[in-house]
Amino acid sequence: MSNKYVIAIDQGTTSSRAIVFDHAGEVVSVGQKEHEQIFPAAGWVEHNPIEIWDNVREVIGTALAKENLTRHDIEVVGITNQRETTVVWDKHTGEPVYNAIVWQDTRTQDIVDALSAEGGIERYKDRVGLPLATYFAGTKIKWILENVDGARERAEAGDLLFGTTDTWVLWNLTGGPEGGVHTTDVTNASRTLFMNLETLQWDEQILADFGVPASMLPAIKSSSEVYGTVASNQLLREVPVAGILGDQQAATFGQAAFGAGTAKNTYGTGCFLIFNTGQEIVSSSNGLITTLAYKLGDAAPVYALEGSIAVAGSLVQWLRDNIGMIASAPEIEELASHVEDNGGVYIVPAFSGLFAPYWRSDARGAIVGLTRFADKHHIARAALESTAFQTREVLDAVNADAEVPLTELKVDGGMVANEHLMQFQADILGVPVVRPKVTETTALGAAYAAGLAVGFWKDLGELEANWSEDKRWEPVMGAEERERSLRLWKKAVTRTFDWVD
Ligand code: G3P
Repeated sequence: MSNKYVIAIDQGTTSSRAIVFDHAGEVVSVGQKEHEQIFPAAGWVEHNPIEIWDNVREVIGTALAKENLTRHDIEVVGITNQRETTVVWDKHTGEPVYNAIVWQDTRTQDIVDALSAEGGIERYKDRVGLPLATYFAGTKIKWILENVDGARERAEAGDLLFGTTDTWVLWNLTGGPEGGVHTTDVTNASRTLFMNLETLQWDEQILADFGVPASMLPAIKSSSEVYGTVASNQLLREVPVAGILGDQQAATFGQAAFGAGTAKNTYGTGCFLIFNTGQEIVSSSNGLITTLAYKLGDAAPVYALEGSIAVAGSLVQWLRDNIGMIASAPEIEELASHVEDNGGVYIVPAFSGLFAPYWRSDARGAIVGLTRFADKHHIARAALESTAFQTREVLDAVNADAEVPLTELKVDGGMVANEHLMQFQADILGVPVVRPKVTETTALGAAYAAGLAVGFWKDLGELEANWSEDKRWEPVMGAEERERSLRLWKKAVTRTFDWVD
């Protein structure tokens, strides 16, 4: 091992970060920058890909400068990313043809309806593990080809490239129009609706149904291998890039959830529970999706069931930015702590329809149970509780699909700093909730995947040894109270259905 550190780039929904890790998996330095959330119309969410790439370069510089590091201290680069968010750009100029269409965006509902007219939303589920939904990248590529002037012709001429933001960052980092590597990994490819779960190749029939030229798509590689080296005009020049994992899979990897039956739940913009099913492709009968957990080089792929929740931390952001109820996100905990309970108020944040386990794109958000008694403290509490209730519904689905129920839940992500939420989560689940010492598991997972590829870490055992528990919350709520609040939550959920005219 010649260099001391690994750097992970985490291109997330709200911000881009670069985190330097040492061999013990400890955070050495962090650079972070938020990017603009663009909402051009109800249900539309965009990012500027150029701003994202500029921020990625800047945060790499920040992370290195904070600890006086140079490229010579960095052994390898890993990338993790918000998944499904779709960028289409010109391969000769590097110019995006449109803003990135974000995973939360629901503008492709008509495309979903048209494609599911034959075979319903589960038309491709056997092959790709996903229902047809606005969430996944395939519908967003089709929208760009159909709605951006000249895009289809340019795509068919072979001039346009598609990528999720891992691919966008990798291509730019490795040279852009001058030899940039156009590659993704299996975890990101499994979120497009186009990758066959068994062959790990693009499915030509589905591409034809969508009208997407195969020439736009990146090569699908494993999550841990050398894809290329950083271009000579970048700070990290000549450092190999050797790990890519979608952010939720990266968090699973960073939590050392390597074995079948292990799981984690990440509380970020959304909330995503991933349950490792080993080498088995399990099809859910309870509203979960089937996805890749990771693939290390030539080793067999590892699969997972996922419960995707679209809105968790972004509800707190919404209360801050759209409603002005708080000035900063952490204030929500203080506000919520003023009251003993939610005062009968439930918030169902169906901003992007509802994902798992309902997959109701016709749902829209609702606040129910309001009386003159309710105040901002109850609203704050209901906002936090909505994340815990949604997680409970996903955990029920996992337990119904899996042979052995989960007996505890490993958690990570920004919201796990919130003690009240974690206690309520354990109460509503009825099983303990466990937080690791390093909660930067997303970036850590990408660092691990990259480090494994170049021998910085030698095997999974070494990574497992780095994991240690920080805190555990045991359920204390009585069963009757738990069941009552769950019943009310489920009733509130039904109030959001059928809201799109
Ligand atoms: O599938 C979307 C997911 O990758 C975004 O994650 O961290 O922004 O909640 P996050």
